[in-house]
Amino acid sequence: MANQITADMIIHDVVSTYPETVKVFQGHGLPCTACEVGARESVAGGARTHSLAVEPLLADLNRAANGEPVVGLKPERKMPTGKGIPLQMAGQTGGKIRNVVAVMSGKGGVGKSLVTGLLAIALQRQGMKVGILDGDITGPSITRMFGISAVPTKGATGMEPPRSQLGIKIISTNMFLSNTTDPVIMRGPMIGTAIKQYWGDTDWGQLDYLLIDLPPGTSDAPLTVMQSLPVDGVVIVSSPQLLAIDIVKKCIKMVQRLKGKIIGIVENMAYLPQPDGAHMEIFGPSQGAELVVTTGAPLLAQLPIDPQIAKLCDDGKIEDYQSAEFTTLAANFIKAVKLAR
Ligand SMILES: Nc1ncnc2c1ncn2[C@@H]1O[C@H](COP(=O)(O)OP(=O)(O)OP(=O)(O)O)[C@@H](O)[C@H]1O
Ligand SMILES: [Mg+2]
Repeated sequence: MANQITADMIIHDVVSTYPETVKVFQGHGLPCTACEVGARESVAGGARTHSLAVEPLLADLNRAANGEPVVGLKPERKMPTGKGIPLQMAGQTGGKIRNVVAVMSGKGGVGKSLVTGLLAIALQRQGMKVGILDGDITGPSITRMFGISAVPTKGATGMEPPRSQLGIKIISTNMFLSNTTDPVIMRGPMIGTAIKQYWGDTDWGQLDYLLIDLPPGTSDAPLTVMQSLPVDGVVIVSSPQLLAIDIVKKCIKMVQRLKGKIIGIVENMAYLPQPDGAHMEIFGPSQGAELVVTTGAPLLAQLPIDPQIAKLCDDGKIEDYQSAEFTTLAANFIKAVKLAR
């Protein structure tokens, strides 16, 4: 079939005429489909900006537009039934998840849940289908952040997860408590079982990304996720404080020992912006470069301390958050996922 899409066409026009090309742009590491750049930038211009060769991109775009399989894209994957997941938990007939990404730190309170939420929002806004598995069984915070009070319903092949306002599918322990302040008192093996159930008993449907928010530490939850679920990559969240860095390095070593792939680093609470534009480094100078050297993975973003974040998280309105640093995080994450494949 003829090539309908040419290098001089505007990205937004291509996507609105051929919606199936969104995944091709994303798959090639070109996140402009959802941002305003795509409204004025041509395919060739977008490729140039992101240092991509335009010919393979065009070839894949035209394949997608013609309804042909796209070679460059990761194939959809059936839910695994191995790797320690009991068969009854993996009885997902229609479920397909393309990328499983765990968000870890080792250190508590550095912003893992926030980064999980922000990544999910960025991906969903770009037309991806996204889910969040809240792997923090005893201290879940995803439901409050997204303002979700709905509970999972019974679907045809498993639990139907509630959706956020943007449509992100979410499963969290809080949804199973009669009161969100009720404690979850569990020994290690039960935590592992709960995570596997959230994975296998949920009717995730087709997802481009399942993000897993993990608690601090290097024990039950991260271990279960790394050993029992098909994790494609890990995002490490840190803050500049040396106390945090020491513990984050433990987590990095754990991921490396388990042969996990680190996609990138996010340095949260990196600075407090001052009215004159200066950056007050409340927790000390950035340690991002050191973590980049330790992991060989890129620094995806340095997020400032922003009172708006805390307020939106408390109000369940994190999906309203906008900032330049957030845009950078989203764009770099998509690029890094592609490179890590
Ligand atoms: N950059 C930021 N600016 C302002 N507030 C932030 C920022 N990052 C996180 N917070 C706030 O700090 C708190 C802790 O963040 P978050 O829950 O994401 O950390 P965590 O690493 O997941 O913690 P835990 O180890 O308990 O799971 C939250 O209330 C969040 O709203
Ligand atoms: Mg958390």
